[in-house]
Amino acid sequence: MTDQMTRDEELIGRADVNDLDAILSVPNPYVDGVIHTVKDNADAMFTWDYEKGARPALDKLYEKAKKAQWNGQTDLDWSIEVDQEKLAMASVASAPVSNLDLTGTCFESWTDTDWAKLNIEFQNWTLSQFMHGEQGALLCTAKIVETVPWIDAKYYAATQVMDEARHVEVFAKYLDEKLSGHYPMNTHLGMLLDDIIADSRWDMTYLGMQIMVEGLALAAFGFIHQLTEEPLLKQLLRYVMSDEARHVAFGVLSLKEYYAELSDKELRERQEFAFEAAVRMRDRLLQQEVWERVGVPVKEAIELTKLTPESQMFNIMLFSKIVPNCKKLGLLDASNGWLRRRFEEIGVIQFEDWVDTGDEYEAFALENTPPNPLAGAESA
Ligand SMILES: [Fe+2]
Ligand SMILES: [Fe+2]
Repeated sequence: MTDQMTRDEELIGRADVNDLDAILSVPNPYVDGVIHTVKDNADAMFTWDYEKGARPALDKLYEKAKKAQWNGQTDLDWSIEVDQEKLAMASVASAPVSNLDLTGTCFESWTDTDWAKLNIEFQNWTLSQFMHGEQGALLCTAKIVETVPWIDAKYYAATQVMDEARHVEVFAKYLDEKLSGHYPMNTHLGMLLDDIIADSRWDMTYLGMQIMVEGLALAAFGFIHQLTEEPLLKQLLRYVMSDEARHVAFGVLSLKEYYAELSDKELRERQEFAFEAAVRMRDRLLQQEVWERVGVPVKEAIELTKLTPESQMFNIMLFSKIVPNCKKLGLLDASNGWLRRRFEEIGVIQFEDWVDTGDEYEAFALENTPPNPLAGAESA
């Protein structure tokens, strides 16, 4: 094995990051019981420097966040009726799999109704993972309030805690009232959230959550917001995105200052953590629990459907916020370009010159038309 493979074994738990059998064989520890406990290993820090606005960019975010609060119960129109089956049926005709020859595969006898049922499961799964991820953000941001040494960051993080409570609330309500079933936490998303919470270093919470998890969520919400025909989901995502852009900007603006002081060795640890996060999020996008639930051979189903050019393109686009933000933090090129090479390997480096969220977040405010998620290159 090469040194890199040995290191990947330590970081990711497998020597070959693309080993599908290894990805699918990780057991899911999140299905038993109602409570899952993680040690958060961190020192809570008081600061006696109360000077508000010592970090003007964070102070500006805090002032914006105070004015941008909304109420998930009353600002969204929950009277809208959602016909999930009809929406799922409508999306079957345009699905990329309709161009595939499925003769001799596990899908050979599938009808449009079977594909529509699959779409329903995908939607239940996707919204469930958003909900679990939002709870991860809630816990991480509460941790940041305790652990970050700067008063402006504590103030801002406190507003984000409220934002995340609201996000968990609205996704849970949408799942319960408008969709048709929940899924447990995905194994790979859960492993990532556990690692983020367990890390003792305060900046790693930001890197894992604000830069990686929320960077991916911001891109995903942007695409689904643009594509969905369902007015309540569209409205819900629009509201959530307006907060989420601020959260990612909070990560970029805080870490930009801190990472400027770190050594190459310390930056390399951050690069490795960012790469681990990227791989875990890519693994989660295989949606293995859905295939298990609909009862088809998981590996065969993934190889047939997830490897279509359309599906791969969508998954790559989800990195369109993460990569420019990592570049802004100096993480691509530190340590002889270690993270740049890894992002090249997983096929996402092309976004490096897209606009970063520290520059873009104000465009997501509710009074504006949100940026086109495919147009990051033009606004860079
Ligand atoms: Fe959120
Ligand atoms: Fe967030």
